Amino acid sequence: MKKKKRDFLGVYDFSHEEIYKIFETTEKLKKQVKRNRFKKYLKNKTLGMIFEKTSTRTRVSFEVGMSQLGGNALFLSKNDIQLNKGETIYDTAKVLSRFVDAIMIRTFAHENVVNLAQAADVPVINGLSDLLHPCQAMADFFTVFENKPELKRNPDSMKLTFIGDGNNVANSLFLLSAIIGNTFCIANPKGYGIPKQIQEMGEDLAKKSGAKFIFEENPIKAAKDADVLYTDVWVSMGQEKEKEEKVAIFKDYQINQDTLKEAKTDSIVLHCLPANRGMEITDEVMDGPHSRVFDEAENRMHVQKAILLKLLKK
Ligand code: CP
Ligand code: NVA
Repeated sequence: MKKKKRDFLGVYDFSHEEIYKIFETTEKLKKQVKRNRFKKYLKNKTLGMIFEKTSTRTRVSFEVGMSQLGGNALFLSKNDIQLNKGETIYDTAKVLSRFVDAIMIRTFAHENVVNLAQAADVPVINGLSDLLHPCQAMADFFTVFENKPELKRNPDSMKLTFIGDGNNVANSLFLLSAIIGNTFCIANPKGYGIPKQIQEMGEDLAKKSGAKFIFEENPIKAAKDADVLYTDVWVSMGQEKEKEEKVAIFKDYQINQDTLKEAKTDSIVLHCLPANRGMEITDEVMDGPHSRVFDEAENRMHVQKAILLKLLKK
């Protein structure tokens, strides 16, 4: 019987065990790149990449990652394909499935990712929707564990504090925390927290892992004793019209020296990037000794290669 295809639409698509296995594979793949010795596990495989929003990291990391694995990637920008000219997601999924071995999509409504995956006959990877950014969260946890192996062994002793908007990146970190079992603390202005549907899903997952959640309004309090401080832009792609309003609302939700002082002395600072320096994070922190943001960006590629192998390798 043909094996059922797997998708990666949210971190919940993998079990705790599978996530740790992916981190193991990521470590091995990263070493191969360091030695400049690539194993061509995905020879002749093609990844189709639909982008309805802009990207630097996601595009480059998938494209270079596929090439290192012996395959190739197609950049399908919304300006160049028929999807945005009225062709349906269903038809696009069916047609692409005849050509490519997997599809990555970056889009607005999360429903688009779900519909694409339902119609596609090949694995679908969420490269960011308005709701979730699972590849980012996987790279983030890999970066944390790479820097702090003791937290990988004892995730229940880890506090990850997110300061800012309860949006796609925060949602995925929340859900991955719920699977891994660490404490996830978020400080956000009223009305900008983790949405109810994600909270419920996380609470359900936490029953198994023992993860704890802390919801705060005060960023300084939230930062107290954190192992990891994390932030994201105040105005996400697609929210440009709300810019002025959000910048005013979020002005105190910044990672700066005052926030950093509250965290553990050996804490690390992460940001999914792109950053608006001087807004959600200061130059001093982003370029300072606690920052791991560029390792984090690099790890996108290593972890995504491991995800591609999980979904595609026979
Ligand atoms: N973090 C991230 O997804 O970056 P891009 O928007 O550049 O892909
Ligand atoms: N929340 C941001 C993440 C960018 C990687 C956005 O959606 O624009």
